[in-house]
Amino acid sequence: MPVARRIELPSGQLLDITTVAERPELAGAEVDVAGWPEFMRHNRVSEAYFWQTLETFPTTCLVATTDGVVVGDAHAVQLTSRAELPAGGWEQAVWAFADARRGLEPDVACALNISVAQDLQGQGVAGHLLAALRDAATDLGLGQLHAPVRPSRKHLEPGTPMQEYAARTRTDGMPFDPWLRTHVRAGGEIVGLAPTSWLVAGSLEEWRRWTGLPFDQDAPVEVPGALVSVRCDVAAGFAVYVEPNVWVRHRL
Ligand SMILES: CC(C)(COP(=O)(O)OP(=O)(O)OC[C@H]1O[C@@H](n2cnc3c(N)ncnc32)[C@H](O)[C@@H]1OP(=O)(O)O)[C@@H](O)C(=O)NCCC(=O)NCCS
Repeated sequence: MPVARRIELPSGQLLDITTVAERPELAGAEVDVAGWPEFMRHNRVSEAYFWQTLETFPTTCLVATTDGVVVGDAHAVQLTSRAELPAGGWEQAVWAFADARRGLEPDVACALNISVAQDLQGQGVAGHLLAALRDAATDLGLGQLHAPVRPSRKHLEPGTPMQEYAARTRTDGMPFDPWLRTHVRAGGEIVGLAPTSWLVAGSLEEWRRWTGLPFDQDAPVEVPGALVSVRCDVAAGFAVYVEPNVWVRHRL
């Protein structure tokens, strides 16, 4: 199916999805997802590489609009598959930039982000972006789309081990988590964990600024929006968040 598509949403609004290669003028528009925790904006790998995704891989970056306004986007890199999906998840997907610089032929895509504007969430936009991303990768002859998925409701139970959470299903056999469910419904398969997918390291002062919490004890800190606790070392003067994600593989 061509990547560019028009879909009528349950609200009656028309959603247009295209690649950034087709509509470069729409690239980089902010999508207001609301509630994205401040500390999540301070991943150093992302700071260095994420902005380059649109420029380097415009054929696997998508924008979704209603009435010409950007309401969603998806970013995926293209890389050479390794023997195993890496423990480093999101952060190791940036191998793609090294592969591109070396001129290596990619054989898989890896999704780094799918975002939907707050007022359009819950209408299946993310599922449509995911389907279009699968088609974009297929058009390029890539055999798989991988995704280090950040389950959307895991932050409500930071104490539950990710392994247990990711394996939890509803009575119909579908994943308990809505975002994992969307991936599985789109044809993805949960294949493992990326235990060190996304790191945020900062001084205690930085963590206090990002969260408004005291960070004054050597104990795990529950931070709103975090999928697991943040580890705090007062004597050393830093705290670190190691976010586990869930590897989903879409065979194309
Ligand atoms: C995660 C996200 C991309 C989902 O987008 P979306 O377009 O709302 O997703 P969908 O409409 O396809 O809904 C997916 C599932 O989540 C559920 N859902 C969506 N929004 C919801 C909400 N606000 N409350 C409860 N459930 C919700 C839907 O009902 C659906 O579940 P279903 O299987 O029971 O139908 C979007 O919420 C988002 O942009 N979040 C912030 C950024 C983010 O976390 N991105 C993913 C990691 S990169």
